[in-house]
Amino acid sequence: MSASTIMPIRWCDDGHLELLDQRTLPDRHLVRTVTSAEEAAAAIREMVVRGAPAIGITAAYGVVLAALEQDDSGWPDRLEAAMATLAASRPTAVNLFWALARMREVMALQRHAEVAPVAKLLEAARAIHRKDLDDNLAMGELGADLIARSEPCAVMTHCNTGALATGGHGTALGVIRSAWNRRLITRVHANETRPWLQGARLTAWELDQEGIPVTLAVDSAASLLMAQGRIGWLIVGADRIAANGDVANKIGTLALAVQARHFGVKVMVVAPSSTFDLEVASGVEIPIECRDASELTHQGERIVAPQGIDIYNPVFDVTPASLIDAIVCERGVIEHPDRTAIARVIETCR
Ligand code: MRU
Repeated sequence: MSASTIMPIRWCDDGHLELLDQRTLPDRHLVRTVTSAEEAAAAIREMVVRGAPAIGITAAYGVVLAALEQDDSGWPDRLEAAMATLAASRPTAVNLFWALARMREVMALQRHAEVAPVAKLLEAARAIHRKDLDDNLAMGELGADLIARSEPCAVMTHCNTGALATGGHGTALGVIRSAWNRRLITRVHANETRPWLQGARLTAWELDQEGIPVTLAVDSAASLLMAQGRIGWLIVGADRIAANGDVANKIGTLALAVQARHFGVKVMVVAPSSTFDLEVASGVEIPIECRDASELTHQGERIVAPQGIDIYNPVFDVTPASLIDAIVCERGVIEHPDRTAIARVIETCR
């Protein structure tokens, strides 16, 4: 399988979902079969599928799976219960709640139907899936246009924002792919992204498969690379963007943005409009997921911390808008993001 053919999420016409298990990549390519909304929620919670847009797409198909179930309860109640389970799977990526809201709109239009409107819901889930790819292709070109304003350079990215995290092509990694195709970047520096190693296992693998030059480094090497003047742009994705432009993304993004400002490296955030949450005024209101202590105390079977030690394991942080040079979304580029600039671009696409 090459990166361009990666299909992390596949709807099968006999009525089930297949997810490429991202926890064992790049070593083993296992597929998880998902047949209910509960299983879809578990796959999201357990990181079988991850990345904000991919989580939203999976949740949409999860609603379809609930609609396919036969039981005696009324279908609207059954679907509401399924959506509550899906909504509780991970708290930070707003694409999850956005996708569920889209599915709820379809339900509302069909509220007089006697049986669950499976075909309409599937059409909606497929549209969410397809649009994500289209958005990423559009953002890829817009982001590449920004890079084209200066000489070709090396870029740094964090976590995985590629085909695996989305409906295809990727957000930040989509810009990197498009820019590479236009010969605007010379190399990608991927941070390993502790503790799940999305950068090492997923980003380095996606880029390597496509022959895009990539150097992997421990997260803490980033400031040295920037200090050495080796990075032109820091390009990252987002899990939720507040109305004022504050960006929640993978833990470590805030430190990278602070370092980037110090060393004169430009910061680009790439996210579709489904990642913006205008109901959240600023980043302090964004819920930050904290995951299990075992993610830090263990590496596989191996114990790497004292037993019973107090653990803090937030998996996202919030970068203030003031540290971001540009947010790229499918509707346009928001330079020097603030409340007004964001409202201008995002409210027009709602
Ligand atoms: O915990 P993860 O792997 O779901 O976190 C993913 C990220 O933080 C990505 O940067 C973000 O979802 C954007 S993906 C296009």
